[in-house]
Amino acid sequence: MLSEDLKKEIEAEVKKYPTRRSAVMAALTMAQLDKGRVTAEDMREVADLLGINPVDVHEIGTFYTMYNVERPVGKYHIQVCWNISCSLLGAEHLIEHIEKLLGIKLGETTPDKKFTLTTVECLGSCGTAPMMQINDDYYENLTGERVEEILKGLD
Ligand code: FES
Repeated sequence: MLSEDLKKEIEAEVKKYPTRRSAVMAALTMAQLDKGRVTAEDMREVADLLGINPVDVHEIGTFYTMYNVERPVGKYHIQVCWNISCSLLGAEHLIEHIEKLLGIKLGETTPDKKFTLTTVECLGSCGTAPMMQINDDYYENLTGERVEEILKGLD
């Protein structure tokens, strides 16, 4: 359920767009930032708030990997790109390495809720493959050692 404060913030955001419908991704992002995920109820409320069909909001929310729909993630959401450039340069090995380091498998969250490991399609950083995104930050030209350093540096 969206808080009243969040609804007001979304209303303020809507004013930046030519139509209310155009603000759907911003509204979903704001809902996710508030709770770390987007629920079906959140999507219905966003649809009501914007005056659009709930199915349209659901389609957008479930199409883009940046939305954690009905999927809570840990404090750090590790998304390893496994599209062609990253795969050719070892993404699968990095994933296995991270699984071993964290003791989880793809799609899982560590018991302390610190890390969630998922894959993602191309993030447009093919020239610096292999790469991963952790929350909003890109980490590029990765090696197993570099990944280990990065994860150890996150508190
Ligand atoms: S294939 Fe990984 S960033 Fe493009």
